[in-house]
Amino acid sequence: MKYIKKQAYLLLIIFQLVYLSCKPVQTNELPTLHEAYQSYFRMGVAVSPGALEGEESQLIRQHFQSMTAENVMKMGPIHPEEDRYNWEPADRIVDFARTHDFFLRGHALCWHNQVPDWLFKPDSILSKEELLTRLNDHITTVVSRYKQDIYAWDVVNEAISDREDEFYRESKWFKICDSTYIAKAFEYAHRADPDAELYYNDYSVINPVKRKKIYSLLRGFKDSGVPVDGIGIQGHWSIESPSETQLRETLSLFADLDLKIQITELDISIYPNAESKVVEPGTVSFNRLMEKQADQYEMIFRVLREYKDAVTAVTFWNISDRHSWLDNFPVRGRKNYPLLFNEKLLPKEAYLSVVDFNNQVSKP
Ligand code: XIL
Repeated sequence: MKYIKKQAYLLLIIFQLVYLSCKPVQTNELPTLHEAYQSYFRMGVAVSPGALEGEESQLIRQHFQSMTAENVMKMGPIHPEEDRYNWEPADRIVDFARTHDFFLRGHALCWHNQVPDWLFKPDSILSKEELLTRLNDHITTVVSRYKQDIYAWDVVNEAISDREDEFYRESKWFKICDSTYIAKAFEYAHRADPDAELYYNDYSVINPVKRKKIYSLLRGFKDSGVPVDGIGIQGHWSIESPSETQLRETLSLFADLDLKIQITELDISIYPNAESKVVEPGTVSFNRLMEKQADQYEMIFRVLREYKDAVTAVTFWNISDRHSWLDNFPVRGRKNYPLLFNEKLLPKEAYLSVVDFNNQVSKP
C-alpha cells in the first residue's frame, strides 16, 4: 500500500512537470521589463509627448522606469529662435516623469542635426567665440531649467567621423570651432548642474576604428579633467550585428576606462542594411526574421547583464513596432519591426528572450 501511494505521488509530480512545461505563455505570467531587470540596470524608452496620453502610456508605465525625449529637447525643437525657447512639449514629458516617478535622460545638448536655422548664421562670418557663446547660453538655460528633473544628459552627440581617415566629423560645429566645442559643451553642462551625469553619445561604437577614436577622445577628457561621466552607446543594431565578440570588446574597453555605460537608443532592425528588401508580416521569411531578432536580443541582454557593474541603463528608441523612426531611416517608408512589442502593443518573441533569462516560461 505504502509502495502504491509513493508511485501515485511520483506520477502526480511528473504530470505537473510535464503540464507546466507545455503550457503556452500567458503574458500575465511574464515579469515586466523593469521587474526582470531591477537588479541589473534601468530600463528606459524614448517618447514623444503624444505617446504619454495615448494607448501606449499604460505600456510605458508598466515596463519602464526611465524616459528620454525622442525629439523635443533637441536644439532645433526647444530653441527655435535665438531669444525664444519652446518649453511646452519638453515640459509635458517632465511633468509625466514627475507624476509617475520616472528617471529622465536629457537628449541632446549639442548635435549637428535638428539644429535651429539661426544657430550658424550669418554664414561664413560667424566667429568661433560667438558660436561658443551661443552654445554656452543654450546649455546653461536648458540644463538649469531641468536641474531637478534630469539626472543625465547626452551632452555631445555624434562628433566623431565615420570615415577611417578622419577623426572628427566635419560638421559646422567643427568647421567653426575646431574640436574645442566638445570639451566646452561638457564644461558648460557641468557648471549648470554639477550633479548631472554627462555622456558622450554616438552610433557605430562597435566598429573597431570608430570605437578607438571615441576611446581616445574620452581618455583625453578623463586625463585632462573634462567632466565626462559616461559613454552613450546608441545601439541602433540589426539582426546581424553586433556579434557577441564585438559587443564584449566594446563594453570591456569603456568599462576599463571607468566610464558609466548606457545603451541609449536600442533597436534591432530586421534589415541588415539599406539594400535589404522589404519583408511583409505573416510570411515565412518574416517569421524567421522575428526568431533571429529574438536570438539577437537574447545575446545582447545576456552580455549586458554580465556587464551590469558598468552598464547603468538601457533605453529603447521608441515603444512598439506601431511606430519606429526606422520606418523612415535609412529608407523612407520601409516599415521596420525593431522593438519588443508588436503593432498591437503585445510582447513579441523578442520580449520573452529578454525577460525570461532564467527559462521559467516555455516558448510560445
Ligand atoms: C531621430 C528621431 O527618432 C526621429 O524622430 C527624428 O526624425 C530624427 O532623429 N540618433 C540620435 C537620435 O541621437 O536623436 C535620432 O532620433 C536617431 C539617431
